[in-house]
Amino acid sequence: MKPINIGLMGVGTVGGGTATVLKRNAEEISRRAGRPIRVCMAANRDVARAREVLGEGVPVVDDAMLVVNNPEVDIVVELIGGDTIAKELVLKAIENGKHVVTANKKLLAVHGNEIFARAQEKGVMVAFEAAVAGGIPIIKALREGLSANRIEWIAGIINGTSNFILTEMRDKGASFADVLAEAQRLGYAEADPTFDIEGHDAGHKLTIMAALAFGIPMQFDSCYLEGISKLDGRDIKYAEELGYRVKLLGFTRRTDAGVELRVHPTLIPASQLIANVNGVMNAVLAKGDAIGQTLHYGAGAGALPTASAVVADIVDVTRLLTADPEHRVPHLAFQPDQLKNLPILPI
Ligand code: NDP
Ligand code: HSE
Repeated sequence: MKPINIGLMGVGTVGGGTATVLKRNAEEISRRAGRPIRVCMAANRDVARAREVLGEGVPVVDDAMLVVNNPEVDIVVELIGGDTIAKELVLKAIENGKHVVTANKKLLAVHGNEIFARAQEKGVMVAFEAAVAGGIPIIKALREGLSANRIEWIAGIINGTSNFILTEMRDKGASFADVLAEAQRLGYAEADPTFDIEGHDAGHKLTIMAALAFGIPMQFDSCYLEGISKLDGRDIKYAEELGYRVKLLGFTRRTDAGVELRVHPTLIPASQLIANVNGVMNAVLAKGDAIGQTLHYGAGAGALPTASAVVADIVDVTRLLTADPEHRVPHLAFQPDQLKNLPILPI
């Protein structure tokens, strides 16, 4: 059967993990997707490093536009990050009629309304499971598993780096700066780690979940953001003495007046499940009117856990390629022409 051709853009932490998972589990992945999947071209700034990761047989270029314009490529996988070159590449891919898989939460939280509108016009899919909570299939849960529910609220530990820092400070008395450096070394942190520690990354992810859960446009600019950079060891110690854990929490809730969208350090009683989510692990609590509370837990960052979500999207998109465009786009993306304009409430 004709393979699906992947154009991989960015062979760093997540791109390298994606190549590893695609190779390691090729047989299972092809069986589940219904077709073989192969990386037919890759782009990375450091071409030599990408060649080392990908091995022989995959052409590597430094100009990612060559991937987007390659007529052989069926699915473009954007793992570069940021919203400058990545935005240009994703919009061009859509214009060229290619399906897109991305882990880029900033891109979607800030430019998602435009990107999904273009995708809808062109009948292509934009899949983004890895953009929220790393390996946890929370997008699939919100889109499919909970689709019978009116979602009332979502609360989550959705930045692995911050949770890793808070955990190491509490358990080992480690310094903020040392643990942040370790999170960078382990590939958890964003290219600019202020996004992690000032709450922006959690805000991007919360914006995406709120848009999916409540059927509203992406409104990252209105998200209240407060990170963990002003906390020190004493805050964590005193909280512990009082029976609480400090967690960076993203919280969104729908009310009649509008939507709350906020990220800030929160004191949580130590007896609660979510207070015991440690290290790089993430957890998302979602409350639906029919199901009640659900808890989704797993690794929130890192090469292989994130690759798990990227590859799941590749499989999903591959399966849906046989559906006609009108049917496949609503399945994966927002339908920008069907969103409600609920305001974000001021904090
Ligand atoms: P990395 O910095 O490890 O990888 C990015 C890669 O893109 C690097 O290899 C870089 O090459 C390459 N690159 C940068 N600019 C260009 C360009 N113009 N053309 C071609 N290649 C380019 O980042 P991550 O893998 O950590 O993150 C990638 C995306 O995944 C981001 O959107 C991030 O937010 C998201 N994400 C990351 C997670 C994680 O755990 N790390 C988890 C979930 C999502 P070079 O190094 O040579 O500059
Ligand atoms: N920097 C992010 C985090 C990566 O630490 O959660 C996963 O999105």
